[in-house]
Amino acid sequence: MAAEPRGVTRVVTFFDGPVLGIETSCDETSAAVVDSGAVLSNVVVSQARLHEQWGGIVPEAAARAHVEAMLPVLSTALDRAGVSLRDVRAIGVTNRPGLVGALSVGVTTAKALSLALDVPLLGVHHLEGHVLSTLAAGPPPFPHACLIASGGHTELVLVEQPMRYRMLAETVDDAAGEAFDKSARLLGLGYPGGSALERAAIGGRTDRYPLPTGLANDPVRFSFSGLKTAVLRLVERLGADLSLSDAAASIQEAIVSALVEKCVRALDDHDLGGLTIVGGVAANARLRERLAAECARMGAAFVPAPMDLCTDNAAMIALTASLRLARGERDDTSLDVHANADLPGLA
Ligand code: KG4
Ligand code: ZN
Repeated sequence: MAAEPRGVTRVVTFFDGPVLGIETSCDETSAAVVDSGAVLSNVVVSQARLHEQWGGIVPEAAARAHVEAMLPVLSTALDRAGVSLRDVRAIGVTNRPGLVGALSVGVTTAKALSLALDVPLLGVHHLEGHVLSTLAAGPPPFPHACLIASGGHTELVLVEQPMRYRMLAETVDDAAGEAFDKSARLLGLGYPGGSALERAAIGGRTDRYPLPTGLANDPVRFSFSGLKTAVLRLVERLGADLSLSDAAASIQEAIVSALVEKCVRALDDHDLGGLTIVGGVAANARLRERLAAECARMGAAFVPAPMDLCTDNAAMIALTASLRLARGERDDTSLDVHANADLPGLA
């Protein structure tokens, strides 16, 4: 590997031994096993089909579905990792932020296992899990900028090193994933809308319908609510004359352009080893393609989260727990759940 630029490092220390991760903050029930930074298994059961009938997540239904899925998901994750329950050395569980009922299922399971196995327990912040999901592909260069783009979040974070963060930009209204989901719904595509809209955009013209790209000249604020209103007007005005593929391509391009603009600005303004992208929207091929081109042009490393770790998963929770456990951090069975919580380690 080529020498890293001065001040850039990829050195991280993981907890030694199998760590079980559990994630139930929203509509995915997931369990994973990691060992010394390697992902041995990652099992995800999505409730998307359940919530599709309501066009969004119903918290009570999500909690119940987690109760049903939790134990089968756990035993499949252990089986696939070739690790028995007795071999598990620590447990990491998402305890914040998220739907309180949904989080409680994972946290209660993790507490019971920690007591029964007499192994350490650690509560993990869901967003920090996303930020550190790129560790699965080998440590990214630190410091780097991380674009978190999911259904609930759009944030650009400067990751000085794992667990030391600075907020560079955040959304003042909708998240990027929400912009995909709401636009997809207006176009009559399914839920969740991001991947449906991406498919509909294939072969479409990106410049057919000019749409707003948010606060393009604002270094610290993303905004996607104007786009949603513009899409609504477009659908009302053109009705059946609207080209679905051109509309989808134009919407995707507007969202991607808004994200790319601030990532490029972050690389311009700070001395960074590169850029990572994480969260559900990081699965978008057009976003990956445009950011890869920009990073190549700027000579910066581009590290997108592995495709299977973009949407919610327990591998990223287990990896994050591994780093914090290695530093001696522990929780006890008084660990609580929180609907809202700031990213830990924010300067
Ligand atoms: O990270 P995630 O699974 O859940 C949250 O923590 O929010 O992200 C889900 C979001 C949804 O809004 C979904 O529409 C979006 O990620 N998404 C995509 C794609 N796949 C998922 N957006 C754009 N393109 C995709 N291929
Ligand atoms: Zn998420």
